[in-house]
Amino acid sequence: MKHTKVKDLLNSTTTLQEVNAKGWVRTFRNNQFIALNDGSTINNIQCVVDFENTAEETLKRITTGAAVSVIGTLVESKGAGQKYEIQVQKLEILGDSDAEKFPMQPKKHSLEFLRENAHLRVRTNAFGAIMRVRSVLSFAVHKYFQEEGFVYVNTPIITGSDAEGAGEMFKVTALPFDNTPRTEDGKVNYKEDFFGKETNLTVSGQLEGETFAMALGQIYTFGPTFRAENSNTSRHLAEFWMIEPEVAFNDLDDNMDLAEDFIQYVIKYALDNCGDDLKFLEGRLLEEEKSKPQADRSEMPLLEKLNFVLENNFKRVSYTEAIDILRESTPNKKKKFNYIINEWGADLQSEHERFLVEKHFKCPVILYDYPANIKAFYMRLNDNTEPGRETVRAMDILFPGIGEIVGGSEREERYDVLIEKMKALEIDEEELSWYLDTRRFGSATHAGFGLGFERLVLFVTGMTNIRDVIPFPRTPGNAEF
Ligand code: 4AD
Ligand code: MG
Repeated sequence: MKHTKVKDLLNSTTTLQEVNAKGWVRTFRNNQFIALNDGSTINNIQCVVDFENTAEETLKRITTGAAVSVIGTLVESKGAGQKYEIQVQKLEILGDSDAEKFPMQPKKHSLEFLRENAHLRVRTNAFGAIMRVRSVLSFAVHKYFQEEGFVYVNTPIITGSDAEGAGEMFKVTALPFDNTPRTEDGKVNYKEDFFGKETNLTVSGQLEGETFAMALGQIYTFGPTFRAENSNTSRHLAEFWMIEPEVAFNDLDDNMDLAEDFIQYVIKYALDNCGDDLKFLEGRLLEEEKSKPQADRSEMPLLEKLNFVLENNFKRVSYTEAIDILRESTPNKKKKFNYIINEWGADLQSEHERFLVEKHFKCPVILYDYPANIKAFYMRLNDNTEPGRETVRAMDILFPGIGEIVGGSEREERYDVLIEKMKALEIDEEELSWYLDTRRFGSATHAGFGLGFERLVLFVTGMTNIRDVIPFPRTPGNAEF
């Protein structure tokens, strides 16, 4: 007999059928009621064991974490909270779980403890829900771009250039650490390395992505990226997944429209397809926030917050307007910010971004037209900017509770302007010659952005630490599993 998923059993339209369910025991009450979960849904199916006719030996082995298979009749449940239950006729223990030793006991565990047990935390309600939502969101990413006619591009993970300057890179080498080949002046001789040159793990697929956009029109990447920054925060990972669309003939306004439409689409898709999981996560968040002071609690319950993002346009604000708002803000005047904003040109810290989004505008914000010297070399210089106050067609999208979720720009399509910028920043033209070919041959306006996938999952699940929305987080000092 083939087993049926718990989700399908709970959604069944007929009762009194013989069914087989397989899963892991969450709890076993009164020597009679098994709450069985198989990961197909946050909901358990109650399996009622005929304890009088079941061997004592078997009953003892029905412990939290054990894998079991039950065969029985699907009937309407008399108990509260579930529509159906299984009246068990035959029960088989597939895999025992020593109740004394199984770390995921049916009680509240701290998120820190669960992180140390990342291989088992997925057996809890919260992490099961998070990982299902993450999976649905990644499907929605592909669905959106595929429906819009974008081509999915797999940009390389090992790269030869640190052109982006987006962050510290992890070196990739096959050279031995002892007896490292050296050049005459004592430097490591990468000519003898696997690729015959210095290589790194990619921080972004953008530059390669641009070359594809200049042929295929609309492309997107969705893959892992790596940054060796020592930022031990609740928003940074050393290995994270990024989605980078790049579109030929799009300018910055088109880029903003695309980002907003895309984000709203994937959030709506999650709302439509992860109802039970999101409802559970909303409850979890409310519970967690009970112990926090009022000021630190979310303004809205999770589902309301997600719907709010769907129903309201993102507020578009120029960097210059933002600086004016920040300069006049109470925390700036009262010197509550760690970095006081005095003048135009200051780089915004996350405290400023969060003030704008959470206190001032109270909605997602797109900041654009940043000072040229705090942004990457490839961003398009604005026409008609004052000397000394040059700005670029950059945009960052800021989300409540998250801060920066998207970074992007219109690209500098003019060969001469780009070369001048690279010279000023001492970026190796030779190394990036392939990238410059996009500007040498058939250059055109184009734009794109990068969305940090885990920051999106954070927002949608209402979790607060990025380590809790990726299966096995990599952060400074941690690469377990
Ligand atoms: O702003 P970033 O550095 O932009 C780029 O890499 C561009 N090449 C993107 C593009 O235009 N195609 O990174 C983009 C996004 C950030 O907004 C943030 O959401 C996420 O990637 N991100 C991180 N997420 C987790 N951990 C980190 N260490 C992250 N660094 C960036
Ligand atoms: Mg950025």
